[in-house]
Amino acid sequence: MPCTMVVGGFWGDEGKGRIIAYLAEHDNPRLVARAGVGTNAGHSIVFQGEVVGVRQIPCGLVNPTARLLIGAGVLVDPMIVLEEIRRFGVGDRLGIDERCAIIEESHKLVDKTDEHLKKYIGTTGSGSGPAQVARVSRKACLARDVPELKRYLADVPLELNEALDRGEEVLIEGTQGFGLSLLYGTYPFVTSKDTTASAFAADVGLGPGRIDEVVITFKTFTTRVGEGPFPTEISQEEAEARGIVEYGVVTGRRRRVGLFDFELAKRAVMINNATQVALTGIDRIDPGSRGKTRYEELGEEAKRFVEKVEDVVDVPVTFVSTSPEPGHIIDMRAEKL
Ligand code: IMP
Ligand code: MG
Repeated sequence: MPCTMVVGGFWGDEGKGRIIAYLAEHDNPRLVARAGVGTNAGHSIVFQGEVVGVRQIPCGLVNPTARLLIGAGVLVDPMIVLEEIRRFGVGDRLGIDERCAIIEESHKLVDKTDEHLKKYIGTTGSGSGPAQVARVSRKACLARDVPELKRYLADVPLELNEALDRGEEVLIEGTQGFGLSLLYGTYPFVTSKDTTASAFAADVGLGPGRIDEVVITFKTFTTRVGEGPFPTEISQEEAEARGIVEYGVVTGRRRRVGLFDFELAKRAVMINNATQVALTGIDRIDPGSRGKTRYEELGEEAKRFVEKVEDVVDVPVTFVSTSPEPGHIIDMRAEKL
């Protein structure tokens, strides 16, 4: 479909990066645009054989011919974006909307020291929340005010809408997850913006009718970093017994672990108007399915889980990820859509 968006269904870290990287390589979109809050998100992809966390540039960077865009709604930390531009060698493939608000040193300092943010909420300390406050207060500096970003400045909505008018493929990368939405998540233990499909569309300057497919990503278990309610949480010991130990990409904090939350999934599908589900980590509930590349090869346990998810959320599971390796994704769109 011309315009596909990938969103997170739980508390972030569902494996969106893997799914976006797969779509960027497989569907070969002309443009990949990143939406979402800012550098608080870390998406993991495999780049030149190494697992890396990307905090600012779209994961679509794995496709060397795709144009990469950062939407106006995304907060930009000049140091981080410039470092990623160098590290991933994206050069002028990258366009940063001139209206992106800038995360300043003072925002990071507040995010890392403020009792309420750091201790009570457990933010990532990336400066995202305080930068959002500056934007709302109409005091923020924008990307167009930063000389080092000048060569990358772009009109992201114009590029995206014109590409769609020409019938070209576009991929939109959402960040965080439904449970972290400022509007629909577990307030006040949430991030500083809505994190559902409509907000991501606005972030990059696309009207709601422009989005053809919304792929919602769920892991077969849930994780959460930072404070806040977590209804299906299990103890660290139980998580370890299941072989699940994860650390945050941005903060290195150990992630809390829980069981799949069917109630949350159902609501996330509804509010995102998701049209497809990507299910990652199937090997965690059925180790025999690890690395499989065809649905028929999955174990009974894995298949039962996929069917249960489809049953509950009433949307087809079109992707199943069977290991962290880039090739280990079963793409069932041809059969199910
Ligand atoms: P903030 O977004 O840094 O203000 O953090 C607010 C809450 O959202 C904290 O619980 C963070 O751990 C969480 N959070 C923000 N971004 C992400 C993400 O990309 N993955 C997981 N948790 C996140
Ligand atoms: Mg992450």
